[in-house]
Amino acid sequence: MDSLAGMAEAAAGTATGPIRARIAGFGGALPARVVTNAELATRLDTSDAWIVERTGIRERRIAAQGEAASDLAAAAARAALADAKLDGAEVDGIILATSTPDRTYPATAVSVQAKLGLVRGFAFDIAAVCTGFIYALAVADAMIRAGSARTLLVIGAEVNSRILDWSDRATAVLFGDGAGAVVLRAGSGEGNDAPGVLSTHLHADGRHEAILHVDGGPGTTGTVGHVRMQGREVFRHAVAKLASVVDEALAANGLGQEDIDWLVPHQANLRIIDAMGRKLGLPPERVVVTVDRHANTSAASIPLALAEAHADGRLRPGQLVLLEAIGGGLTWGAALVRL
Ligand code: ACO
Repeated sequence: MDSLAGMAEAAAGTATGPIRARIAGFGGALPARVVTNAELATRLDTSDAWIVERTGIRERRIAAQGEAASDLAAAAARAALADAKLDGAEVDGIILATSTPDRTYPATAVSVQAKLGLVRGFAFDIAAVCTGFIYALAVADAMIRAGSARTLLVIGAEVNSRILDWSDRATAVLFGDGAGAVVLRAGSGEGNDAPGVLSTHLHADGRHEAILHVDGGPGTTGTVGHVRMQGREVFRHAVAKLASVVDEALAANGLGQEDIDWLVPHQANLRIIDAMGRKLGLPPERVVVTVDRHANTSAASIPLALAEAHADGRLRPGQLVLLEAIGGGLTWGAALVRL
């Protein structure tokens, strides 16, 4: 163990073993407004039947005018802190994944820090689109293991409704708004049975940017832009790349698919989620699904699903949870977490 890590662990007063980042609290926040498929079908050439059959989505939440990613993120963070029984004074930093920041700068994480009334620590954003939460978790886990932070807020927050082309039925029906957060705290432990993040696995391949991107930005068009997607191509990559990264995560820990208690996947499409559940030999009741009610909330989808399954008692201490996601970039990744 290096000296910084040793000092942090000594300060933590925890048991023996290397530092490990544990999830100490979960929180989620959704806008109040529910938009059903039927409502979209009044404005677009689509139908509830088409959307449900191809995606599993039945409704989504859409942010109110003036409701920004930082508002949803701050609400989710407050819920996660309350769940962890912390008041925020111990938070060393905020790492927030989003593709729909409040502004070009400052980072939305800094706005969240202000909204939470926190006056110390660092705050920054991560842009990895739908894989954003796993990227944020990986960075937070590495910082905690290195001894450079002890308590972190890891958040995914999106107002996708602001970057949708509402005249494009191929994308407008797929996305929703929301935020989810976890509190990550330094503990210690060794082996697959000790609670904490066991490992994270990140990938990117920029050659595929054309199949899922936003056609604007401050350094190119000077506009915010709209989501453009070749859905069938993204689907093809999703199934192959998620299967591969999940195998990588299990192999890295010497675990098998029979060890997984819960699959908490990125929520883009029920058909992709079902395919992953089948690949892992998991019955549907061991897969957390929110896409039917939330649609695709990009970086927020995994922490929102975690918060829901924690709140209703499905997630229990000691269980092994597999997280996986793929999104624009392409980026993809997985994480294994012992609760
Ligand atoms: N309502 C009715 N018809 C539609 C709609 C709609 N909302 N959208 C597209 N169609 C039509 C198309 O125009 C096309 O019509 P055509 O045959 O006359 O040309 C037909 O439906 C089939 O279109 P496809 O795009 O081939 O349909 P597909 O079965 O591939 O389903 C979908 C589209 C749902 C987007 C699917 O490809 C998919 O889920 N892809 C994965 C991508 C994804 O989930 N992206 C989310 C963001 S990225 C991420 O988070 C991983």
